[in-house]
Amino acid sequence: MGIEEQLTGVLAKAVTDIDSAESVKEIEAIRVSYLGKKGEITSILKGMKDVSPQQRPVIGKKANEVRDELTAVLNQKKERLEKEALQKQLEAETIDVTLPGRQVKKGQTHVLTQIMEDIEDLFLGMGYQIIEGNEVESDYYNFERVNLPQNHPARDMQDTFYITPDVLLRTHTSPIQARTLENHDFSKGPLKMISPGKVYRRDTDDATHSHQFHQIEGMVIDENITMADLKGTLELLAKKMFGEEREIRLRPSYFPFTEPSVEVDVSCFKCGGEGCNVCKKTGWIEILGAGMTHPNVLEMSGVDSSKYGGFAFGLGPDRIAMLKYGVDDIRHFYLNDQRFLTQFKRKG
Ligand code: PHE
Repeated sequence: MGIEEQLTGVLAKAVTDIDSAESVKEIEAIRVSYLGKKGEITSILKGMKDVSPQQRPVIGKKANEVRDELTAVLNQKKERLEKEALQKQLEAETIDVTLPGRQVKKGQTHVLTQIMEDIEDLFLGMGYQIIEGNEVESDYYNFERVNLPQNHPARDMQDTFYITPDVLLRTHTSPIQARTLENHDFSKGPLKMISPGKVYRRDTDDATHSHQFHQIEGMVIDENITMADLKGTLELLAKKMFGEEREIRLRPSYFPFTEPSVEVDVSCFKCGGEGCNVCKKTGWIEILGAGMTHPNVLEMSGVDSSKYGGFAFGLGPDRIAMLKYGVDDIRHFYLNDQRFLTQFKRKG
């Protein structure tokens, strides 16, 4: 077979190979196997040395044509394969914008924080300051400075976590009374403050007891503050917490830091006073303790009790939340169970 025929045959074979190639990589392999240094066309052209001088230009031309043709077919196929690959990739990477997005779980304010913030708003509106106390407190401020000397029987009311004999986890927010009183400059105006925070008692946790719970302390000291001021203030608080139609009543009680002391009841928000299971058929629900600040508390903080006086109150947001939402176990507030917590979505 002459060189020309060989070249034509090789071209035909190469075109078949190219037709069946499925990747750019295969195309490049075909390119090398025909046009490379050791490729089929190159080896055919090695036979040129036996060709007569007259024939050489003819065969040379044919060789060039075959090479050009082959290169063109290779490049065409390569281009097509590249396009197809790109198309496939684009299809694989297509984003379906109509698919629903992944839900991002948003946190929300804890129900107890909601209650405390509502109460803070109310008192801020009446010109009170919000004071933060420390959860680790001294025996001195927690007890002595609020008129509970060592061995006072009323200390038994508050079973205490002691860290050392002198340092403890505060059992109530009342030490903040002494801490603000001793720092207050009465020449600049009355003292009006509330102080929300956590408190601790050595109780065994059950449905109604938690070793950690919350309190909000409140105190107003000025000249000429009376029990009517206390009652009016607490009435506003009760209405804010339980609704505008609520009334309150004061019952005599005992706290070492107030004299007289009262227990404050709110008219039942469920039955309106008729008597039901929430108010245990009495029409009233106990919500907080309060009283007129004991002169000893003022004097120990360097405040002249013959000139200044006022009231203090302490309430428990945990108890308020349990009453308001019918929660039957205080431990729900501290278990961080989403099924419980997400029920208390703040409106607005
Ligand atoms: N500290 C009291 C308690 O924990 C509550 C209280 C505060 C009562 C202020 C009267 C005045 O029980």
